[in-house]
Amino acid sequence: MDTRTYIFLAASLLLLASSGPSEACSCFSAHPQTAYCNADVVIKARFVGANLNNSTSGQFGWTQYEIKMSKIFKGSDHITDLQFLYTPSEDSLCGYTHHSTNKSEEYVIIGHMSGGKVQISSCGFIRPWAGLSASQKRGIMQIYKDGCNCTIVPCIAMPCSISRDTECLWTDRFTSRSWKAYQTQHYACLPQGSGTCTWQSMKPRANSSIFRSTAAL
Ligand SMILES: *[C@@H]1O[C@H](CO)[C@@H](O)[C@H](O)[C@H]1NC(C)=O
Ligand SMILES: *[C@@H]1O[C@H](CO)[C@@H](O)[C@H](O)[C@H]1NC(C)=O
Ligand SMILES: *[C@@H]1O[C@H](CO)[C@@H](O)[C@H](O)[C@H]1NC(C)=O
Ligand SMILES: *[C@@H]1O[C@H](CO)[C@@H](O)[C@H](O)[C@H]1NC(C)=O
Ligand SMILES: *[C@@H]1O[C@H](CO)[C@@H](O)[C@H](O)[C@H]1NC(C)=O
Repeated sequence: MDTRTYIFLAASLLLLASSGPSEACSCFSAHPQTAYCNADVVIKARFVGANLNNSTSGQFGWTQYEIKMSKIFKGSDHITDLQFLYTPSEDSLCGYTHHSTNKSEEYVIIGHMSGGKVQISSCGFIRPWAGLSASQKRGIMQIYKDGCNCTIVPCIAMPCSISRDTECLWTDRFTSRSWKAYQTQHYACLPQGSGTCTWQSMKPRANSSIFRSTAAL
């Protein structure tokens, strides 16, 4: 990467690092729809290599992952030949570490553009494609994009509520004690006409919206 890019990335990391309460990377779990909507780049790819670019004085180290991309779900034309992803080499700067050595395993990777490079982090959504639910795959392929004008509001502590009717309250943590339950696995927050948004099932042939976004807990 050129020097300007590096400085830009380093500066954004400094901001990230200094805004945190401690040395540790802390970030909040996002619903896959939120991750999709906030991302610049959503692709399916295999990880085929990694190169560490060690930190030098005054600069952060970076890991460059080499990928083989098979699908672009979201992103500009300029990523059609995307070959490398970048992440801080420090865990404390939210660097992503790829643990699997299986080069034929496909991943959904959500990243951000920074200075012409695609950046990934441990806070992002990077999962084996095979591990997604059928609904999440449909979400990424076609449904989540329709909900990008809606906002998914995580319920972090009771009581929680939403303040606008374009919001859906994400309550998985209270219904299952994890952020990986029903709304995460099977639901998208979608416009429902008349400017409101509601949770809707992405299961094929089901139309129920059992989690009304207007209901406050
Ligand atoms: C590491 O990054 C610096 C700054 O961008 C670059 O000049 C250098 O070529 C990189 N080294 C490797 C081994 O990629
Ligand atoms: C980076 O540091 C590691 C461990 O200190 C070393 O094994 C590796 O060769 C270094 N890589 C480069 C490109 O200098
Ligand atoms: C690697 O991943 C592929 C595709 O998911 C799978 O079929 C294969 O069994 C995996 N190999 C190993 C050694 O886990
Ligand atoms: C989101 O809102 C903008 C501006 O109100 C509108 O132009 C756009 O079509 C909306 N997108 C979707 C997917 O509804
Ligand atoms: C789903 O909704 C459509 C129209 O909104 C309706 O025609 C269809 O019967 C519904 N399907 C089920 C399984 O309820």
